[in-house]
Amino acid sequence: MNSKYKKIIVTSGPTREWIDPVRYISNASSGKMGFHIAKAFISHNIDVVYIHGNTLEKYAYVDRAKKIISVETTIQLRDAVLEEMEEDTLLVMAAAPADFRPIMTAEHKIKKDNREGAKKGLLLELEENPDILQQVSAFVKEKGWKNAVRIGFAAETRDLEKYAKEKLEKKGIDWIIGNYVSQTEGFGEKDSSVRIYNRSGVVKEIGPSSKETIAKELVQFLMSL
Ligand code: CTP
Repeated sequence: MNSKYKKIIVTSGPTREWIDPVRYISNASSGKMGFHIAKAFISHNIDVVYIHGNTLEKYAYVDRAKKIISVETTIQLRDAVLEEMEEDTLLVMAAAPADFRPIMTAEHKIKKDNREGAKKGLLLELEENPDILQQVSAFVKEKGWKNAVRIGFAAETRDLEKYAKEKLEKKGIDWIIGNYVSQTEGFGEKDSSVRIYNRSGVVKEIGPSSKETIAKELVQFLMSL
């Protein structure tokens, strides 16, 4: 299929931020949506670069991807995306980067007892991670690239439209795919539905269906623009 893009970058899965050598901060993303989006683009014969965090193993390898890059932290994900970004590229940020990281990673396992001055419990000091889409948008603007399109996701537990629109603006992106999530919905294997927004509002709704079907319809929609 003819495409106005030379390359599609799809990011997928959660990132991890290490507290000590055996503990990390992460989230419940499985990588399933990003995996199926990457697969759907490949079936349109476009080069796909698949950049993934710690997905479930079955979502870590995408057959016939031009390149597969495995990352662990949000900063590594940011660096990999910036490295791959170029003119005539479509970036689909389906990854769920950890928003915060510990200000330092302990060299040794933190022990429950014997911590100096320790009371019960553990206070963790976190700092904010970079917003990858925001940084990519700034980078694209600086380069003056007109055809380097960014798509984000907004997984929300309430006020989907409000947050989706805010994220469109804040991250300087072209499209946002919104969906509701909870412990039982939106994450992992369950069927869900998504709404595609641009600055004028909802443009399309897909689902409820499996993530595989949603990914196919989403890619079809993006290719038709
Ligand atoms: N994202 C990003 N960089 C981050 C966090 C998220 O680029 N540090 C991207 C995600 O890949 C997704 C979009 O931004 O495409 C929205 O992610 P989400 O976690 O919903 O938004 P946040 O900006 O982290 O806002 P909040 O957690 O406050 O809802």
